[in-house]
Amino acid sequence: MNANTIFAEIISTGRFLPPEITTNADLEKVIDTSDDWIRERTGIKERRIAGEDLSTAQMGARASLDAIGKTDIDPTDIDLIILSTATPDRLLPSTACDIQALIGATNAVAFDLGGACSGFLYGLSMAEGYLASGRAKNILVVASEKMSSIVDWTDRSTCVLFGDGAGACMVQKSEGKNGIIGSHHGSDGRLAELLYRPAGGSLIPLNSQLMETGDHLVKMSGKEVFRNAVRSMVEASEKALANAGLSSDDVDLLIPHQANIRIIESTARYAGISMDKVFVNVHRYGNMSSATIPVAMDEASEMGILKTGMNILTVAFGAGFAWGAVAIRW
Ligand code: ACO
Repeated sequence: MNANTIFAEIISTGRFLPPEITTNADLEKVIDTSDDWIRERTGIKERRIAGEDLSTAQMGARASLDAIGKTDIDPTDIDLIILSTATPDRLLPSTACDIQALIGATNAVAFDLGGACSGFLYGLSMAEGYLASGRAKNILVVASEKMSSIVDWTDRSTCVLFGDGAGACMVQKSEGKNGIIGSHHGSDGRLAELLYRPAGGSLIPLNSQLMETGDHLVKMSGKEVFRNAVRSMVEASEKALANAGLSSDDVDLLIPHQANIRIIESTARYAGISMDKVFVNVHRYGNMSSATIPVAMDEASEMGILKTGMNILTVAFGAGFAWGAVAIRW
């Protein structure tokens, strides 16, 4: 039984993946790693890498047009664009404004949201709030990430994990039966330096030496991230389900952030959800940060796995640390 009023319904999803595939065998040629190590520790077999001609805004615009094209909504009817990204095209202005221009959503308010890997779920909850307050009708929530532009390609412990891609969804006011039925979000800035880009912002502005130190690129303490990810994703799952008036037995499909198969399996196990109810595509795309969940939603929908009326649980964790879970009656 749903405990809350349902305000927000995802009426369509879309995705864009760059065509260029980089396999583990390709990475073996440029860094000291192996297909066996990457598959065993992460489950990843290949990822997409965007070329110079594909920016975060361009990928986001293509995913957005895919989602919009599955509705009867004209881009000029969209009144809000929320873009989750850790890899904006430029630091100023927001990349959401670039997407607005690319898709012709001339009447939309557009802004970026910095929630790292959890950003898409933060965006969904923000859209829910706008719909609940009646301040927007047609909301585009986009997640687009060009992780290849911020990883250190000489650091084998991070560069093998990430990939590029974008996902999007159109969110509208629910008629009361389907949509977001529960959520829980959390953050802990005390742990920021376990996964971060030390320099390149206002704290340590870009300078010529940074290019040599690589301090403008992603640094990660993998084991600590792993431990915190599982703990926080399990806790967020339980709280979002409780908020929705559901238990883990009621979950028809879990769509977790796709960072690492071992994180996904541990989260599912401790959350009490069997792996046959978990959507997994991390082997094909790696970790596309906040884009993983909308891409997975779109693929699951296209494959007929995601069906109307199902109880879906989405859950993510990432830099911040920031995490969250959103339960949806599809
Ligand atoms: N290829 C081969 N060997 C490697 C590689 C690689 N790509 N990377 C590291 N190694 C080596 C290390 O140097 C180390 O060697 P040593 O024992 O000789 O010192 C050995 O493998 C073990 O390294 P660990 O870091 O202890 O390996 P671990 O089992 O912790 O796995 C991993 C590393 C996969 C990064 C793991 O910690 C992890 O998945 N963490 C979560 C990180 C993550 O998903 N971050 C994404 C952002 S947050 C999110 O999205 C949830």
